[in-house]
Amino acid sequence: MPADAPGAAALLYFDDEARAAERLAAAAGLRALRIDRHRFPDGELKLTLPVDPAGRLPVRAVLLRGLHQPNDKLVELLLAARAARGLGVQHLALVAPYLAYMRQDIAFHPGEAVSQRIVGPFLASLFDAVVTVDPHLHRVATLQEAVPAAQTAVLSGAPLLSDWIVRQRPGALLIGPDGESAQWVAAAAARHGLAHAVCTKVRHGDRSVSIALPPVAVQGRAVVLLDDMASTGHTLAQAARLLRAAGAASVDVAVTHALIDAPSLAALHAAGVGAFWSTDCVPHASNVVAMAPELARALAQLAAGATMFAS
Ligand code: R5P
Repeated sequence: MPADAPGAAALLYFDDEARAAERLAAAAGLRALRIDRHRFPDGELKLTLPVDPAGRLPVRAVLLRGLHQPNDKLVELLLAARAARGLGVQHLALVAPYLAYMRQDIAFHPGEAVSQRIVGPFLASLFDAVVTVDPHLHRVATLQEAVPAAQTAVLSGAPLLSDWIVRQRPGALLIGPDGESAQWVAAAAARHGLAHAVCTKVRHGDRSVSIALPPVAVQGRAVVLLDDMASTGHTLAQAARLLRAAGAASVDVAVTHALIDAPSLAALHAAGVGAFWSTDCVPHASNVVAMAPELARALAQLAAGATMFAS
């Protein structure tokens, strides 16, 4: 069915993600339809869904919502998903290129809410399928354990970042800043036969980490630090300082999710980082890798009925 045909599957999106929605709609052959938001003076939200003249939505719909700065967006998802069901949507997929609250997967102190175990089932209660990129799964093996939706799909930015890295820094040494990054570093390195290793990290607080370099020779090497995300940038900054002190000729950074703000990025450069590259999972000036084609492929597989095409 053509994307603009009445009844064709819709890609629902919010105004602040119009460009990402256009890219995904074009790649996936979906009809992009905007959900309007009104914020009342008391802060509450009113959503208006893009229904047809009969007041209905298509039976299949995809909702695009990147979950960086997630708190308000979780309420939007609740309102939008429940409203969409009432307006005729029978299969509703969430595409969240960045999936929030995955890092809090254990209570480190008595009384702490384990957010992953709360937010994941919440999303699964709203959506039939959840598609995301490089979710931070540390103590759980699959996305479905964290987000028990009927269908889940996990994509990775690592292969495409690897393609970018070899064009910019042929023969680079890939380094992950901590144990969790080993999965992404290994995948990126395998794609182009790059040497790789990972650091060890102990986190003391939001902006305080200790890092130890792996036992590999970095003297004179072009090093690229690869991780799933940069948030405060302290992890990458600390690793970059150590690599520079150990004689690395250059240290650049590639991440899937650029959550980092401008002052933190400036601090990262001050720590010795040259280039900072990212996928477009989170809109950022550093975006160099487009994920829409991969997301579209995942949606096609889900539409074809795959119960779970990836972890
Ligand atoms: C945690 O293990 C993640 O992979 C990142 O390394 C971490 O979240 C980055 O946080 P920040 O940029 O605040 O150090």
